[in-house]
Amino acid sequence: MEVAYIVFILSFNIKYAYSATDTSVYLLNDGHKIPTVALGTSLGHLSDGTRVLPVNHSLARAVQWALEAGYRHIDTAALYRVEDEVGLGVQHYIEDNNATREDVYITTKLWNDAHDIDEVIPALKKSLDDLKMDYVDLYLMHYPMAYSVNPSITQVELVDWCKEHGVVVMAYSPFGGILGRKKDAPPPHADDPTLVGLAKKYNKTVPQILLRYLLDRQLVAIPRSTNKDRIKENIDIMNFSLTPDEVENLSKFNSDYRLRTPVKWYSHPEFPFEKKNLSDAEIKYIIEHSKED
Ligand SMILES: NC(=O)c1ccc[n+]([C@@H]2O[C@H](COP(=O)([O-])OP(=O)(O)OC[C@H]3O[C@@H](n4cnc5c(N)ncnc54)[C@H](OP(=O)(O)O)[C@@H]3O)[C@@H](O)[C@H]2O)c1
Repeated sequence: MEVAYIVFILSFNIKYAYSATDTSVYLLNDGHKIPTVALGTSLGHLSDGTRVLPVNHSLARAVQWALEAGYRHIDTAALYRVEDEVGLGVQHYIEDNNATREDVYITTKLWNDAHDIDEVIPALKKSLDDLKMDYVDLYLMHYPMAYSVNPSITQVELVDWCKEHGVVVMAYSPFGGILGRKKDAPPPHADDPTLVGLAKKYNKTVPQILLRYLLDRQLVAIPRSTNKDRIKENIDIMNFSLTPDEVENLSKFNSDYRLRTPVKWYSHPEFPFEKKNLSDAEIKYIIEHSKED
C-alpha cells in the first residue's frame, strides 16, 4: 500500500449534509460537525525550497486571533513543523476565553516516517476484519480528501466523485496564484472584472469571493494568513452566497493550474501530475540542491 501520509480528523465523514441556512459547518452522519473554514498553518517555502517557520510565536498568535475571530478549525501537519505553535495558540485561546478543547476542530497529518508503518498496517487490517470492510470503504469512512481547489484548478471530477461517496473535500491553497503569489499564473488575477464585479455586488473583497466560491461548492476552505485583519476578513464570508450561475462562471476559469508539482517526486512510478519539460540531469540537479522537505 502506498500512502504518503495519513490524515487524522476528530470525526468520521460517513455521509455529510449541507444546511441551507448555516454554512459554517457541514453536518456529518455520525453527528459531528466539520467547520467549513480552517486556518491554514503551512507557512510556505522560500524560492530555494526552504520551509518558512514562525518567528516569535507569530503563528501561535495567528491561531489565537483566528479562534477569537470565529474560526473553529485549524489545519496543520507534522511536516509544517508548527504543531507546537498551533497547540500554544489553542491553549491561549482556551485560557483567555473560558473555552474548551472540544470547541476546536484540528486536522493534522502524519508523514509515514513519523509513525511505525509496520504497526499501522496490521492494525488497519484488523480493523478491516472487525468491521468486515474493504480498505476503500474504511478509507472513505474515516478520512477527508485534500486537494488544491480554486477557480484556476476546479477539480470538478474529483469533487463530484467525493460527494457521491460522502467524502468531505478540504480545499487547500484556496487563492492559488490569483492574488499574485506566482508571476506566471494563468487568469484569473485579482483585478479580473468577473472577480471585481462579484466583490462589488456583494460588498466583499476578491479574496472573500474566492473563499465563498469554495463554500458554495460545499468544500472546506483552508485560507492561510498570519495577518490579524486578513484572518478576520477570511472568515467574514458567512453572510452572503454566490448564485449557482456565478459559481459556474468562476469555474470556467479552470486551467488545471497547480502551484507546485515537486520535482523530487517525478521518478515515482505513479507521479500523477503533468511534469515540466526537464532533462534527467536537470531533475537530478534540482533534487540534489533543493532544500524542500
Ligand atoms: N493537505 C494538503 O496536502 C495541503 C497542502 C498544501 C496546503 N495545505 C493547507 O492549506 C493552507 C493554505 O494554502 P497555502 O498556504 O498554499 O495558501 P493560501 O491560503 O492560498 O494563500 C496564502 C497567501 O495568501 C495571503 N492572503 C491570505 N489571506 C489574504 C487576503 N484576505 N488578502 C490578501 N492576501 C491574503 C497570505 O499572506 P498573509 O499571511 O500576509 O496574509 C499568504 O501569502 C496551508 O497553510 C495548509 O494548512 C494543505
